[in-house]
Amino acid sequence: MKGRDLVALWEWTAEEVASVLDLALSVADDPARYADALRGKTAFLYFEKPSLRTRVTGEVGLAQLGGTAVTQTPEMGRIGKRESVADVARNLERWVDIICMRTFSQRLVEETAEVASVPVVNLLTDLLHPCQALADLLTLRQRFGDLAGRHLAYVGDGNNVAHSLLIAGALSAMKVSVVGPRGYEPNLRVFDRAREVAAAHGGEVLYTPDLREGISGADAVYTDVWASMGQEDEAQARRALFMDYQVNDELFSLASEHAVFMHCLPAHRGEEVSDTVADHERSVIFDQAENRLHAIKAVYLALVGH
Ligand code: CP
Ligand code: NVA
Repeated sequence: MKGRDLVALWEWTAEEVASVLDLALSVADDPARYADALRGKTAFLYFEKPSLRTRVTGEVGLAQLGGTAVTQTPEMGRIGKRESVADVARNLERWVDIICMRTFSQRLVEETAEVASVPVVNLLTDLLHPCQALADLLTLRQRFGDLAGRHLAYVGDGNNVAHSLLIAGALSAMKVSVVGPRGYEPNLRVFDRAREVAAAHGGEVLYTPDLREGISGADAVYTDVWASMGQEDEAQARRALFMDYQVNDELFSLASEHAVFMHCLPAHRGEEVSDTVADHERSVIFDQAENRLHAIKAVYLALVGH
């Protein structure tokens, strides 16, 4: 996979996703084995939006592989403002081995990838969050083993995290149900793509506003904030619309008895999730956070490896 981009998981095959997850499991088991794997390699990390997990794991992950990351935030300049996106890409490719970007626009990441000769990784856009989905599938692999046939119920806003889970789950032959209020369904274009991927790999995707229909028997219940970064103005109005979809003890009990609770974080406790579920003995939210580290290391190794 050397030289490939991670702009969207639908550009990867099921085998590629599985092989990066295998690599991430190996990195998690024996980090010392990879301590020198990317000695001398460099990454550019660009953030238009806030971040804790993605930034820290992006920097620490490469350091743990022997490389160095440089981070740029909007105060230091926005890509496409002082000079064209293409010119920025043509500069960066002369200095670094991989470009990783968190932006509002998915198109900005795509444009950079079209020009840059080095791999480009999507660290979250308004549309997608593929590195999160890889860490989440890694978490489920650690918990349940084989992913095929497992049911993940995503509850809440049909957002970037939901979209990447739909694609990643479909590629892994899982059932992914998105459960949320009408008007906040997943993007139709992404959902149709996920349906095609699921049909080709023996998975299943569905959207329903009905809690029981979407959650019954699920192996994992996943939620995310009701208003994403960039939607702060809508937060208050959304709170009323989404309240029936709060993951609390009652909602969580609709899933299987062994179901895990998942959240990409940051969480707004008391909104999309109750404290009792966030801190439940079957909550794996901090395993997911840990796995962001192993997953991004596997992505670096796969795309940049010697
Ligand atoms: N889950 C996640 O992407 O967290 P950050 O926004 O803190 O990077
Ligand atoms: N959907 C959230 C995810 C944060 C990691 C957002 O875009 O703000």
